[in-house]
Amino acid sequence: MSALPNAKTVLTGVKPTGAPHIGNYIGAIRPALRLAAEHGRSYLFIADYHALNAVHDPKILREDSYQVAACWLALGLNPEKTVLYRQSDIPEIPELVTLLCAVTPKGLMDRSHAYKAAVDKNKAEGRDADADVNMGLYTYPLLMAADILIAQTDIVPVGKDQVQHIEFTRDMAGYFNNTFKNVFKLPNYQLESGVAGALLPGVDGRKMSKSYGNHIPVFIDSAARRKLVMKIVTDSKRPEEAKNPDENIIFQLYSHFATPEETMAMREAFTKGGMGYGDAKQKLYDVLEREFEGPTKIYNDYMANKKKLDDILDAGAARARKIARETLSKAREAVGLNGLPGVHAAAGEGQLQRKA
Ligand code: ADP
Ligand code: TRP
Repeated sequence: MSALPNAKTVLTGVKPTGAPHIGNYIGAIRPALRLAAEHGRSYLFIADYHALNAVHDPKILREDSYQVAACWLALGLNPEKTVLYRQSDIPEIPELVTLLCAVTPKGLMDRSHAYKAAVDKNKAEGRDADADVNMGLYTYPLLMAADILIAQTDIVPVGKDQVQHIEFTRDMAGYFNNTFKNVFKLPNYQLESGVAGALLPGVDGRKMSKSYGNHIPVFIDSAARRKLVMKIVTDSKRPEEAKNPDENIIFQLYSHFATPEETMAMREAFTKGGMGYGDAKQKLYDVLEREFEGPTKIYNDYMANKKKLDDILDAGAARARKIARETLSKAREAVGLNGLPGVHAAAGEGQLQRKA
């Protein structure tokens, strides 16, 4: 494992919220896969406990969780290297939440963006401030801190909206380490936008987003993919007219999937004139097909064979629990509780060990 020059631990949690689109792929999935490949240890888990705060249909929670696993595997996650697991298969995580609760001020949760946003929305609508806010949403940062700290994580790749959670995680680790002893590593975040660059536009030119319904899903059949590409909005310039590629949705999408040479060729053809929108759409379709036809087949195979996914997730959970039990045991001993049975404290720390 530590044969790689960078022996740091990278960890990412993914909330199961439906199938990804090509913007999610470029902005979040691909950078996280690259980061995992570059580092000595990597963990990727399905944040199903977090999803449970909002999803109260057991069938949907189960199916969406499988979707996350199938998605990342299809897009190149190597489960031999990156430990892939369900958050809910690691009982040490909620136990660590209990320990963190003892050193976490309530005010920290009150300041959480996600909670404040819910309260502001309620107030704006003239409702009770805490209407529809459950304790899961309120304590979301505690669970997220436990996810991260339990694996002794160095780096968490995140979108901007998640930065506060990592700062809170560092705060909680600091409170604990200072109150008891140094058990937790303080994690750093790495912003996804720094890796990925610009946001992808949707077929209507606004930011590609599920909530606008202007997205191109990653896993669809070729005919549906073609149909969506053909829907991309263009102006009425004729093929022979010169066009500005940088104001052009087709070109912007194309540049994320084409080789540098292909991108340069389309840029020149648009700039000089002679590239019609129909032609360009066909080229975009071709590169999307090249990128996603194979993964879509793998994804569909996994979704039709859940046993395979269960086996991979079970094996991942067994690996993740090893570090989770070591960390939790240290934290329990630090506060004056028994360590976990069968987990040996690090040599030289002079901690009591319980018999298995
Ligand atoms: P959506 O807006 O479709 O609901 P999310 O907000 O769930 O997408 O985004 C999940 C992740 O995907 C974000 O962290 C963000 O980095 C990335 N992402 C979302 N939309 C885009 C986009 N249009 N271009 C690039 N990255 C995106
Ligand atoms: N909160 C993250 C999101 O909404 C998901 C998540 C849960 C997570 N636990 C995590 C991300 C730990 C990184 C590390 O996208």
